[in-house]
Amino acid sequence: MGVDQLRAWIPAGGVEEALLGQIVPERLPRHVAIIMDGNGRWAASRHLPRVEGHRAGIDSVRDTVETSARLGLDVLTLYAFSVENWKRPATEVSVLMGLLRRYLKLELDTLLRNNIRFTAIGRPNELPTEVYHELLEAEARTSRNTGMRFNIALNYGGRAEIVDAARRAIEAGVSPSSLDESRFGEYLYTAGQPDPDLLIRTSGEMRVSNFLLWQIAYAEIWVTDTLWPDFRCQHLLEAVVAYQKRDRRYGGIATAPAVAAGVK
Ligand code: IPE
Ligand code: IPE
Ligand code: MG
Repeated sequence: MGVDQLRAWIPAGGVEEALLGQIVPERLPRHVAIIMDGNGRWAASRHLPRVEGHRAGIDSVRDTVETSARLGLDVLTLYAFSVENWKRPATEVSVLMGLLRRYLKLELDTLLRNNIRFTAIGRPNELPTEVYHELLEAEARTSRNTGMRFNIALNYGGRAEIVDAARRAIEAGVSPSSLDESRFGEYLYTAGQPDPDLLIRTSGEMRVSNFLLWQIAYAEIWVTDTLWPDFRCQHLLEAVVAYQKRDRRYGGIATAPAVAAGVK
């Protein structure tokens, strides 16, 4: 997988190809995390029920997963259902669960074909039993894949994750004196994975909504007004192009602008 694989997949002469031409393959983000937001507003703008926005959002998930795998990202994390989303009407929650099951059923072959390893992060064990079992099955069937890691955050909360990690560290008998940031990271849901370099949020909201609170400490944030059901390859590439123009300082000092832009 890599820029050439993606070039072979996108339309020749289109906006995607022009964006891809601006991307420096050596400086891709390793991990991209996305807060998929705006399904309800997408539906409302078409005088449709909110759930139609969720249904339409599945096509964006498919496109984003395949684009990311072909581009050669190491990790893609999609925020699909937060611990706070249980506050929504029961019918909406149940449609979301149904869509998730359908996605898993229909897309497992694509995940296998693209060598993608699938993982659910969050507290998926608290989801309806049949959903949980299908998640476990998708994880098991893709567990030997060596390509992109695709995390789906389900019944996920950033604070819940930190509490879960603390509990697991205590249960494992980690002594207070040996606990540091890197050790603590081993008990997070994303243990062993690089932190997100790029955090994308759709629908224009400037907030983090309890997503990957620990891991996004130094993520570059890119917000687009595009609503999730309209999000496609083009938007992901726009985000990567913008990311590559950022000067990541990690608390240090600015590097020369030419170096930051990848110009030799
Ligand atoms: C994101 O779209 C999907 C989920 C949170 C499950 P929303 O349903 O939040 O859509 P808006 O924000 O109300 O438009
Ligand atoms: C964030 O979207 C959660 C997911 C994308 C799953 P929300 O729509 O739930 O977030 P808020 O309520 O606008 O902060
Ligand atoms: Mg929302």
